[in-house]
Amino acid sequence: MNILVTGGTGHLGGLVVSRALDAGHGVRIASRRPRSGAAPNGATWAVVDLETGAGLRDALDGIDAIVHSASDPARAAAADVEGTKLLGEAARDAGVAHLLFVSIIGIDKIPYPYYERKLEAENALAATGAPYSILRAAQFHSFIDVLLAGAAKYPFVFPLPSRLKVQSVATEEVAGRILRALSDGAGGMLRDFAGPQAMSVDEAAQLWKAARGVTKPTVRLPMLGKVAAGFRAGFNTAPDGDKGTTTWSEWLANPGARYDQ
Ligand SMILES: NC(=O)c1ccc[n+]([C@@H]2O[C@H](COP(=O)([O-])OP(=O)(O)OC[C@H]3O[C@@H](n4cnc5c(N)ncnc54)[C@H](OP(=O)(O)O)[C@@H]3O)[C@@H](O)[C@H]2O)c1
Repeated sequence: MNILVTGGTGHLGGLVVSRALDAGHGVRIASRRPRSGAAPNGATWAVVDLETGAGLRDALDGIDAIVHSASDPARAAAADVEGTKLLGEAARDAGVAHLLFVSIIGIDKIPYPYYERKLEAENALAATGAPYSILRAAQFHSFIDVLLAGAAKYPFVFPLPSRLKVQSVATEEVAGRILRALSDGAGGMLRDFAGPQAMSVDEAAQLWKAARGVTKPTVRLPMLGKVAAGFRAGFNTAPDGDKGTTTWSEWLANPGARYDQ
């Protein structure tokens, strides 16, 4: 299969590119930038800006499936909503058999502005008429790692929003789930995909601090508003969804590992 990966220079997209190449697929990376020396051998490159649609038509030449993992939270209305609409229209017009959009669990229930744009992007894709799948994933372990590392930079104390929930997942396993979905073909809204365990952010932070040797005392910050209420309610978790196998503790012990399911 010939696969175009938008966001193929990013964290999840890069893993999708490697896995797809390993599985023997043809891979084209779509990026706003010219080809980087770090691009894996065997992948071709297309310069695409989803905000304008520039480069899309050429990028889709000979493509059977698209993994759409590009996103720009700071410019989500243009890059995510309009970009997904332009990509869906171009995929439909080019006869691409499957466009898989990577989304986030709980975006329909947590009124965080970026999540609201992701939901608009899902709806925009569905309206294009392109054959699609949407895979909503939980927060990546690596993303929680970055957030907690940010908290650890705070002087003297470790500030933590209290009573939020998380069910983070290894990005490698999300990439594996995406590859399986490509074999299955366009399936509309897929089952949510999260990590093996839901836990409180407090528990996740205690495990993180132990793994990273951070001893500053935790200061729990009360969080007000509907966004925090959504994370407290666990709308970002997937009690009935599909689950990866790599726990947060296992990932902390070995963040660079590739896990197969
Ligand atoms: N991070 C999480 O915890 C998490 C959880 C669930 C779902 N997701 C979803 O998973 C996807 C990937 O997330 P990630 O954290 O791996 O992303 P990332 O590392 O931030 O990569 C985003 C990519 O988007 C590309 N991009 C941004 N604006 C673009 C534009 N206008 N045109 C073309 N490409 C553009 C960038 O490529 P260039 O700079 O090369 O153009 C970049 O490689 C996103 O849709 C995100 O919402 C993330």
